[in-house]
Order: sequence, then structure tokens, then C-alpha cells
Amino acid sequence: MIPNIYRSLDCNSIRPDHVGQNVTLAGWVNSTRDHGGVIFIDLRDREGMTQAVFRPEENKEVAEASHDLRAEDVIQIVGRVEKRLTGTENDKLATGTVEVVVTELKVLNKSDVLPFHLDRELSNEDLRMKYRYLDLRRERMNKNIRTRHKITNAARNYLDAEGFIEVETPILSNPTPEGARDFLVPARLHGGHFYALPQAPQQYKQLLMVAGLERYFQIARCFRDEDLRADRQPEFTQIDIEASFIQQDNIIALVEGLLASMFKAGRGIDIPTPFPRMTYAEAMDRFGSDKPDTRFGMEINDLADVFANTEFKIFKNVLEKGEVVRAINCKGFAGITTGQMNRLNDLAHEAGMPAAVKQLAFIKLEGGEYKSPLWKVFSDAEKEAVIKKLDLAEGDIVFFVAGPKDMVSNVLGRVRLEVANMMEITKDSTALNFLWVVDFPLLAYSPEDQSWVAVHHPFTRPNAADVAKLEAGDYANVRAEAYDVVLNGYELGGGSIRIHESDLQAKMFGVLGVTPEEQEIKFSHILQAFKFGAPPHGGLALGLDRIAMLISGEESIREVIAFPKNNKAADLMTDSPTKVDFKQLRELYIQSTWKEKKKDDAAPEANA
Ligand code: AMO
Repeated sequence: MIPNIYRSLDCNSIRPDHVGQNVTLAGWVNSTRDHGGVIFIDLRDREGMTQAVFRPEENKEVAEASHDLRAEDVIQIVGRVEKRLTGTENDKLATGTVEVVVTELKVLNKSDVLPFHLDRELSNEDLRMKYRYLDLRRERMNKNIRTRHKITNAARNYLDAEGFIEVETPILSNPTPEGARDFLVPARLHGGHFYALPQAPQQYKQLLMVAGLERYFQIARCFRDEDLRADRQPEFTQIDIEASFIQQDNIIALVEGLLASMFKAGRGIDIPTPFPRMTYAEAMDRFGSDKPDTRFGMEINDLADVFANTEFKIFKNVLEKGEVVRAINCKGFAGITTGQMNRLNDLAHEAGMPAAVKQLAFIKLEGGEYKSPLWKVFSDAEKEAVIKKLDLAEGDIVFFVAGPKDMVSNVLGRVRLEVANMMEITKDSTALNFLWVVDFPLLAYSPEDQSWVAVHHPFTRPNAADVAKLEAGDYANVRAEAYDVVLNGYELGGGSIRIHESDLQAKMFGVLGVTPEEQEIKFSHILQAFKFGAPPHGGLALGLDRIAMLISGEESIREVIAFPKNNKAADLMTDSPTKVDFKQLRELYIQSTWKEKKKDDAAPEANA
């Protein structure tokens, strides 16, 4: 450590061994107490707290000056370490058996009264964000930021030891398709042209493989203009990895080791590896999600066998069309309130349940009675089979959804999670259920765009066994060499083995509706690079913010980002985004034709 004139020790270091020694400390006044003319101050720095005592008999002038000290003043003290009197120790502090009797005091800066108390939890998030630099002084936030540092450091060390080289890639770049909107930056020197901020360094890292770097990583800032949630920010950080001459199993093993090193550094725990693996198809069938929370059951049951010969028209029609009837049993949730039921119905509609289906179909068993609008339409055999297959017992409620498989999975997946949330099933759980989801589909049909879109991204390699299906246009059934790592229902990271052949990449773009002309404009660099000896390669990116959030036991990534945006993508502290004046716009060759967005204005149509 470099010598420091402000302090000889930090505020968390003094122990009984130091009794009799003179120390110099510097920090913030956490609190002051006046005990009949003797002032006690808890002096705080980032490491912890030490009690300082100002006694008139020790130094009258200093003791008098201490009366003017207020919370958050920044001071430096010199004093003698003494043992605290028996009965006045504080076992909540590491320094709680000693105190510093102050002989010298220097006020380095006075503080105004703070807009909120640092030692109380604050529910007003806007206030926290406006004064984020004060919010970060709080112990919890200090701990989160430092935990993040530790795990980032662990990741760097682990990857370095595995032969990975850290390379920075451009922030001012071209659009790369990761599925979100781009943030654009006007290019003054190329009036009318724009850079895009990277949604991920995907193409650059692949080009580094063509460059022969073989093992790359980056703690990479990424930018995505998408709707925000507790685990999404418009700018976030990935631990971005790419390697050549590598297969899916190698990457999986590497990332398991990486996550283990991060959890060890950040939480001091050993997580067991290898993690279980599940195919995408199984995850969707059992949990209705590609990032299943496997800490609880409530799994989806397929009822095709139960209703194979049903007379109930709706189910019969659905099954005849090759669609599905599925259900989940929410054990012990028969007491669901009307409000909760309404919420589930809203969610189900959001997840794709047709508007014509007004309500989720259900059966509940309460007081020995089956209560359901459906029960009377089922035959006795069907009733018996439902009870048996779903283990329907007193106090349970079963939700049914019928229709196309994807819709049914989505709806039941959302209902499952929301019911678990309502029942607080995982509230006190300390389980860390890591999981690999593998064999993702390569493509999905987007009715909105009326075209096939890449489930991961366009650079993902089709599974060798399914290339014939790709050739034959059987796009729905082509699996990708893509994998996601999931923890307790959060997608921590995703990656894939890549296409490294120019012709296969061009074919893939073609399937995605990117015309040869567009390919030339947007992707000629990568298509050409693949013609100059591109090695087989693959990689993955982990969401560092999400990992830091889960390691810190937080529920929002905002709690582990020093200066996050709020849920409207604004920074209340610096008041960004901000308007710019006409002169600046003119320099950028930008003419503003849209009036300023009012609160409820819809965005102008892209092609208007
Ligand atoms: P993907 O888009 O799956 O893959 O992103 C990787 C991981 O980044 C995190 N993440 C986010 N975290 C916070 N806020 C966001 N808005 C956000 N979006 C994504 C998630 C996610 O799992 N280039 C590929 C990786 C690859 O193929 O190597 C990519 O970006 O934890």
C-alpha cells in the first residue's frame, strides 16, 4: 500500500492489540452522541466504523469543536486507542471493543443535511437515483459494488489462467443483430450516416478468431434499446468469450469453472459442477420456459391420453388438430383470491391465450367438493384420470390450457411462475439451481415480420444432424448448436458454436430474408473473412449484472450497477437523456422533424 497522510489505519482495523497506540483515521461522521459533554462519534469509511471519543480533559479545544460535527462531515482524527469500558462494547462492530480518544481533529469538509438517512432502507427509488452518489455510501450498496469487483476480478483471473486474452472492441460500430433495437450515434464527419452502439461484440469476436487469436474475452459494455425489466438495462455488461477449435462440451465445462470461481469469490461458496442439462424441448414441455426455475415442481402435464376420446368439444377439436391440452396443479392454492385470479388471467392473455378465451379453465378441490365450470363436462373416467395424473388433492387448483403447443407452454409457464410468486414458494430458498438448456431451435417463425428469425443470432451453427432439414426448408425442426446457462429461472448467459463457412453463412442470411444486396452492404466483412481460413469456433456471453445480482441476493440488476438507468431508461442524477440545441444538430446533419415526445405519444411509424 502507498503511504497515506490522511490515515494510518482504516476504520475497520483497530483491535485490542492496538491499545495504547496513536492512530490517524479519516472518514465520514456516521453519527454523533452527546453524553454529558463527552461527544461520541462513529467514524465511517468504506471498510467499517470506529468509535471516536472527544473528552474535554484530553483536549478542550478539540472537544469543543466536536460539538459542531454533523452527520456526513468529512474529518480526520488523531488519537489514542483505548479499550472500551466493560458493558459499553458493541458486538455488531469489528472494532466494537475499542475506541479512539481524540487528541487532534481536522474538518476536511462539512456536509449539508442529506436528503435521506443512509441507515434506513428507502422505498423512493427516484430519490435514491437522483442522489445515487449518496445511495452508494450505504453499507448494502458499498458491499454490492465491491462484490461485483471481486467477481469480475475472479472472472479475469480464471480466463487468463485458461489462456484467454482480453481484447477491447469498438463501441462506435455497425448494427449487429441480437434481437433488440440499436442505439444510434450520428457521425459528424459522415453527415447523414450513423454508428450503432454494439448490442454485443458478436461479429468482432468472431473476426478475432479469424485473426488467429484463438481465445478471447472481454468485460464488454453492450447497449440494447428494449423494454426494461428488473433484470434488463439499456446498457449492461457481458463477460464475452470466444474460442477456436472448441466444441460445445468444452465451452460448457469452461463456463462452469468460470461461474464456480465467481461464486467462490463473491459469496464464498463452492457450487457443484457439472450442472444438469435439459433440452429446450423438455424445458418447454415441463416448465413452459427456456429458462426454467427448477427450484419447485408445479410442472406441466400433457393430457392428450386423458382426453383421447373426449366428448368435450373444445378439447376434442384441439386434439384433432394436433394441438395440445395441458395443465398444471398448483398445490395448496385453492384459496386463490379474485384479485389473484384476475392477475393470472391478464398474464395468460399477455402470454398468448386468445382473447376469446375469457378465463383460464380451472378445477379446484375445496372442502371435499370439486369446483369448476369444467367438471360437469368431463366423463367419470376423465375425472378419475385427471385426479390421478395431476395428483389433485384437497386444497389444490389445476389450470388447463388448450391450443397450439407454443401458446400453451407460454401461458402455463407464466402462470406457474406467477403462482409460485404469489405463494412465495422460493422466498426463503437458498437453492442455486444451475442448468444448461441445450438443443435450441435454430429458427422461429415470426408472424409479425412474416419471416423466419434466428432464435439465438444469425451466426449460430445448425446442428450437423439437422443440416439436411435446413436444405429441405423444414426450418421449424432444425436444432442449433446453441446453449444457455440458467440459474433459478434467470438466463445467465447464452452462446453457440458458430458458422465458419462463408457459403453456409450466406445461406443462413438467405433463410432469414437478408437479400444478397443487403448481405453485401451489412455483412460483406464477415462473409469475406470466412473465406480466408476461418477456424471452427464458438463462444458464449454471460450477463455480469445478473450474476452480480444473484450473488448479492438482490432482485434487480440496478442494485449492482453503480449508475443505472431507471425503468424509463433515464438517469435522474445527470438528467440524461437530454435535449440538444439546434446548432449541435446542424453540425450532425440532423433535422428534427418530430416534435418532442409527450408522455403518451406513440412513436412514429418507422416507414411513415
Ligand atoms: P445474449 O443476447 O443471450 O447473447 O446475451 C448474453 C447475456 O447477456 C445478458 N443480457 C442482459 N443483461 C442485462 N440487460 C440486458 N438488456 C441484457 N440483455 C442480455 C443475459 C444474456 O444471457 N452475442 C451473444 C452471445 C454469444 O453468442 O456468444 C449474446 O449477446 O444474461
